[in-house]
Amino acid sequence: MTERVRTIVVTGGCGFVGSALIRKLIRRTGHIVINVDSLTYAASAEAVEECSGSPRYHFVKTDIANESRIRDVFRSFNPDGVINLAAESHVDRSIDEPAGFMHTNVMGTYVLLDVARWYLSLRSKDQKARFRFHHVSTDEVYGSLSNDHETFSEETAYRPRSPYAASKAAADHLVQAWYETYDLPVVLTNCSNNYGPWQFPEKLIPLTIIRALKEEPLLIYGSGRHTRDWLFVDDHADAILVAFLQGRNGEKYNVGGGAQFRNVEVVERVCSALDEIRPLGNQRSYRSLIRFVPDRPGHDYRYAMNCRKITEELGWRPTNSFEAGLRTTIEWYVQNEAWWRSILQFKYDGRRLGLTVSA
Ligand code: NAD
Ligand code: TYD
Repeated sequence: MTERVRTIVVTGGCGFVGSALIRKLIRRTGHIVINVDSLTYAASAEAVEECSGSPRYHFVKTDIANESRIRDVFRSFNPDGVINLAAESHVDRSIDEPAGFMHTNVMGTYVLLDVARWYLSLRSKDQKARFRFHHVSTDEVYGSLSNDHETFSEETAYRPRSPYAASKAAADHLVQAWYETYDLPVVLTNCSNNYGPWQFPEKLIPLTIIRALKEEPLLIYGSGRHTRDWLFVDDHADAILVAFLQGRNGEKYNVGGGAQFRNVEVVERVCSALDEIRPLGNQRSYRSLIRFVPDRPGHDYRYAMNCRKITEELGWRPTNSFEAGLRTTIEWYVQNEAWWRSILQFKYDGRRLGLTVSA
């Protein structure tokens, strides 16, 4: 049986996770993709360049909070669904400048939900039954775990602790409310920390790789014992796709890598891999660059996901081990130096990241 072709609006498709999803949709499926992205500092048009020649790929540059532009997108393309990834996504930035997080993550999600509601009010019952609003969220909405064997399940109460996590939690609540109140067909996925190619160099793994390649200090916040559950980005894209296509309406699914490591272990693993791939010489290890710096305010101690629901109901599980995924990622950053150097030089103040700015 051939799968029905769908027209899917993917927001934030020039970002790290969105671009991995779009590359997969264009390479591996027959679906039509409308990439809606406002191209903030975090966007990389190059990450979806390979899709630009496909008749199944369309790009619309707009802010998701711009209601009239979003209505135009729905009117023009008649989508069968939305996958909402557009977001401000970096915790440190949310602590310094929270306003943009409220605008995009809260108001942007509200606009998408309400335009979808308006759009479906003009459609037939069958079209409504086919439609799906998929909201991509994070484990950070659940708050912070202590160092025992607890994990986050879909029933865990929300206790966001950073402006980023609070804005994502607010959006999740809006999505659930539009389901309960207006019967909008929705599904949510809450995922743990991702890593992989094309991740903007402000997050721990790409920033550590780049600092190491520039032989600059590898900065670890606080004790370095803070723990994250790491997932390779292509596995996240698979989880989104399976939940979008087969998840139950009104349900949320936790997604994680089952690969929990303390930050210091993550940085040490990056160092060990680079010691093999690009030795420093003079018997020096990249570990000699590690420095402990003052902690992030309100720093969540530990995240860990229980992913039983998506595995049992939808058959998803991660396929990349942390070791293999990290190796692929490091090699990608080594081979794509021009990409990250141009970001540091032209697009972003590298000094914010503790990096020197010159090439
Ligand atoms: P990212 O920061 O790399 O990319 C975000 C994209 O959204 C960029 O292309 C940006 O231009 C676009 N965007 C931002 N504001 C916009 C607006 N107002 N209108 C239209 N486009 C806008 O983020 P990411 O890491 O790819 O994360 C994508 C989604 O996945 C986010 O919703 C995030 O909360 C979620 N998520 C990410 C991770 C992770 O580890 N990266 C983990 C769990 C969940
Ligand atoms: P990050 O990649 O910013 O993701 P998140 O805050 O969403 O988990 O950070 C991952 C962990 O690494 C987090 O505990 C903060 C820590 N961290 C550092 O120790 N040093 C750094 O330079 C960065 C960016 C993060």
